[in-house]
Amino acid sequence: MRFTVLTLFPKQIEDILGHSIIARAMSRGLIEVERVDIRDYSVNKHRKVDDTLYGGGTGMLMQAQPVYDAWKSVVGDDKRPHTVYLSPQGKVFNQDIAHELSKLKHVVFLCGHYEGVDQRAIDLIVDEEISIGDYVLTGGELAACVIIDAVSRLIPNVLPDASAFENESHMGGLLEAPQYTKPEEFMGREVPRVLMEGHHLKIEQWRHSEALYNTLIKRPDMLDQLHLTVDEWLELFHRDRADESLKDE
Ligand code: ADE
Repeated sequence: MRFTVLTLFPKQIEDILGHSIIARAMSRGLIEVERVDIRDYSVNKHRKVDDTLYGGGTGMLMQAQPVYDAWKSVVGDDKRPHTVYLSPQGKVFNQDIAHELSKLKHVVFLCGHYEGVDQRAIDLIVDEEISIGDYVLTGGELAACVIIDAVSRLIPNVLPDASAFENESHMGGLLEAPQYTKPEEFMGREVPRVLMEGHHLKIEQWRHSEALYNTLIKRPDMLDQLHLTVDEWLELFHRDRADESLKDE
């Protein structure tokens, strides 16, 4: 899969993505992350890419021309690549959006800076606006890297073990069950018995029940999206009551 980042800070993208699993995926040719410096497309002798706002207002805005020309340079004669503008006004990124983007061959990210980008460039090149959360960053670069990371790990063979993302938090709308590794006992705390007994069905049931409970405790809002069975609701209800009575003791 190919990602192109249109940015004023190409080095920032390299610094963030040049490590670990993502760097290995790049060197194995599973993903390609291309960085395009918008400043290279400035027609100003000082490589200026921003200007003041028409109609007044504080701050500077990225001009349409260098942004559009930078985008044009990657599009070539190809079919228009899916183009995402990183902005706090966009729809909030989640695992479903990561899956949708992972099906595409080429995604272009436009990273804004200062007060944003001239609306005409956005209207001409952008297919969707995405935010990584309800807060404002200094630019879109960190957001682009977050999305590239989350999407890349869904590409076949990027993760060493494909099952690693089948059971994880947010798959199927539930958080994960707690996990344990050696030793069996740490600071007086033991690994839950069921995980040591090798009964696969019981382990699956335990994990599902813990995942439900974990979601209830940490992200109750996520339960609204799930269609739990009556048994699952009852299980949660009893588990919650049992926990409350332990607290009362
Ligand atoms: N640029 C500034 N803030 C942002 C956010 N929350 N998400 C994506 N891009 C941004």
